[in-house]
Amino acid sequence: MTIYDDLEAILLDEEAIHAEVRRLGEQISKDYADRQPHLIGVLKGSIVFLSDLIRTLTVPVTLDFISISPYGAPTPSGVVRIRKDLDDPIEGRDVIVVEGIIDTGLTLSYLLRNFKTRNPASLKVCAFVNKRAQRIIDLSVDYVGREIPDKFVVGYGLDYRQRYRNLPVLGVLKPSALD
Ligand code: IMP
Ligand code: MG
Repeated sequence: MTIYDDLEAILLDEEAIHAEVRRLGEQISKDYADRQPHLIGVLKGSIVFLSDLIRTLTVPVTLDFISISPYGAPTPSGVVRIRKDLDDPIEGRDVIVVEGIIDTGLTLSYLLRNFKTRNPASLKVCAFVNKRAQRIIDLSVDYVGREIPDKFVVGYGLDYRQRYRNLPVLGVLKPSALD
């Protein structure tokens, strides 16, 4: 029994993922050529993506992390709680928020509102995958690895009940694995 047995389909294999990550890295390195972006990883879904992405960047970067938890299920109010706040101030910094996946957009829109009040010099968003079909809130995502269909996906940092984050591919779970 392996984690691969629970997959119905592989949406992105390792080669496809790394091609997208390299493309994003080149774009960000170009856009921030004379700057030092401050990357904020949204825990925990962004960690695999973030760790690959930073190694494709040719500009100097700094890192921070934030962990948030929705109050129960995400609600249309978009009320979330900060479980672990940033370690450092972002005032005057060129911030890039790095997310594993954007679904309804509630989590990210909350974070962006919160970060804007801290007066960064600039604030951009980079997401590994984007599920636009579920979007409740209009968001502009500056850097996107892939647009994906409205399916529950796991792997490359994304979980189902905290599992499958270690899958190196992005896959769709079999219905039998969703309990
Ligand atoms: P949003 O607030 O609806 O955009 O949700 C974003 C969060 O929901 C992500 O950070 C993930 O934790 C989770 N999520 C949404 N869709 C998926 C999925 O297909 N697989 C795994 N996690 C997901
Ligand atoms: Mg999750």
